[in-house]
Amino acid sequence: MSLFRNVVWFMKGSKEYTSGGYAAAAKHFKADDLDVKCDGKSFMITGANSGIGKETALEIAKRGGTVHLVCRNPQYGEAAKAEIMEATGSSNVHLHILDMSQPKSVHAFTRKFGEENEKLDVLINNAGCMVNTRELQEDGLEKNFATNTLGTHIITVGLIDLLKKSSDPRVVIVSSGNFHTKMGDKLRTVGQGADTMLWLAVVDSLKEKQPSGQFWQDRVPVAKHLPLAWTKSSAEEEKKLMESLDTLTEQFK
Ligand SMILES: NC(=O)c1ccc[n+]([C@@H]2O[C@H](COP(=O)([O-])OP(=O)(O)OC[C@H]3O[C@@H](n4cnc5c(N)ncnc54)[C@H](OP(=O)(O)O)[C@@H]3O)[C@@H](O)[C@H]2O)c1
Repeated sequence: MSLFRNVVWFMKGSKEYTSGGYAAAAKHFKADDLDVKCDGKSFMITGANSGIGKETALEIAKRGGTVHLVCRNPQYGEAAKAEIMEATGSSNVHLHILDMSQPKSVHAFTRKFGEENEKLDVLINNAGCMVNTRELQEDGLEKNFATNTLGTHIITVGLIDLLKKSSDPRVVIVSSGNFHTKMGDKLRTVGQGADTMLWLAVVDSLKEKQPSGQFWQDRVPVAKHLPLAWTKSSAEEEKKLMESLDTLTEQFK
């Protein structure tokens, strides 16, 4: 990243990604937006054994939603499931073991889930990693790409038919700028960090259709790129990326 981008990113993050930034944004939230019931709806959350994924799963279970926790580590997954069931009294908490970096396993998972379930209302792609040194998997894929990009693409495409059976289907994809490691005690709480993904998953008012593909922060759509940072891609580049993801999706079937 260029020095300019680093400076802009740091200034923006210091103002917006902190607890203070959340408090300022929350002044504009509608107080009763999260007073919703989720009974009868099913939600899948990847990377749900810790952090903001677990928090979101817990908040949805509290509201009566069925939650499907997708976790790679059975021990951590079972612990999160037990914690959510105990805290909410819900028995509609299901654990699925899946490593999102393994494309063949992601395909197998979506096939099995589709056979065993009639619909899915909301998919939250939250699992993510940030491996700092280049790590190639046995299948030749780079670890961050395999987990954050291809895994997300395959699970989403694989569950689309099931999502289409919902009257109000949603797919939420969590992004990161890795800013939280630099924030020290100004860091948001887990609840503050999880707020927008929970809101996007459960709020009723989204039914007045929002266009797909928006980038949300603190419950409002925001710019996808930093000002003057030259990070924009052309429509042609975006098309090429999606075609490459589709090709890899087929290749690993
Ligand atoms: N917290 C924030 O304020 C914040 C801010 C910006 C973005 N984010 C993004 O939000 C997401 C969650 O972050 P977090 O802060 O809650 O961190 P976290 O506690 O480390 O959560 C990441 C989750 O993803 C799981 N995961 C990683 N690789 C996986 C794989 N190959 N297969 C399945 N699960 C995998 C982890 O499982 P293990 O426990 O097994 O490692 C963990 O449950 C990430 O995508 C992160 O980049 C968070």
